Amino acid sequence: MQDHFKDKAQNWDSGDIRVSGAKKIAEAIEKRITLTQDMDILDFGVGTGLLGFEIAKKVKQVYGVDTSKTMLKKLEEKNTPELNIIPFNQDIIQEPLTQSFNGLVSSMTLHHVKDIEAFFETIFKNITKGGFLAIADLESEDGTFHSDNTGVHHFGFDINTLRKIVEKSGFKDVNIENINTISKPDHDFGVFLLTAKK
Ligand SMILES: C[S@@+](CC[C@H](N)C(=O)[O-])C[C@H]1O[C@@H](n2cnc3c(N)ncnc32)[C@H](O)[C@@H]1O
Repeated sequence: MQDHFKDKAQNWDSGDIRVSGAKKIAEAIEKRITLTQDMDILDFGVGTGLLGFEIAKKVKQVYGVDTSKTMLKKLEEKNTPELNIIPFNQDIIQEPLTQSFNGLVSSMTLHHVKDIEAFFETIFKNITKGGFLAIADLESEDGTFHSDNTGVHHFGFDINTLRKIVEKSGFKDVNIENINTISKPDHDFGVFLLTAKK
């Protein structure tokens, strides 16, 4: 498994845009989905847990999957007995998880996944009936969001194409809406939240 975040992990949580962006995503999720203390939730591409720890305050347990050992090491340093995320270091498309979850959340990870059809087909099997998806990522961009596009498989997503892929995998009530704008010196980048039900 390639770890494209090895050099970024150490200072990941010092990025104000990342921290405030993850908080906005958590707020947007909570507005649309009722999170309850009996839920097991998977954070896909959990990283250092910027989104996952916000969600963990509201549910029974967050599990976090990530292909980067170094990001997960930073996450584990932040775990406490009161608030913790159980990490999985694996590529779940190659090696699917066997557990079921009441929902999947994700922040800024989908554009790193090469085969998103395979991703949605895979995770459909891990979500309980009535469970949800809440995935935030970039709207279509021109390739300038990242300073280095290594490991970036999509320059954001066309909303209609993405909706069709998610529906084809079996999810219903797919809703995609803008929830944030990330302003960089030369450009503004839209962030969407996709929600869906199984
Ligand atoms: C942009 S970071 C976002 C991290 C975190 N969600 C946040 O908002 O701070 C993307 C994360 O996805 C992970 N990632 C990339 N491809 C992945 C894959 N196929 N499966 C699981 N995690 C992946 C990376 O290692 C990285 O930690």
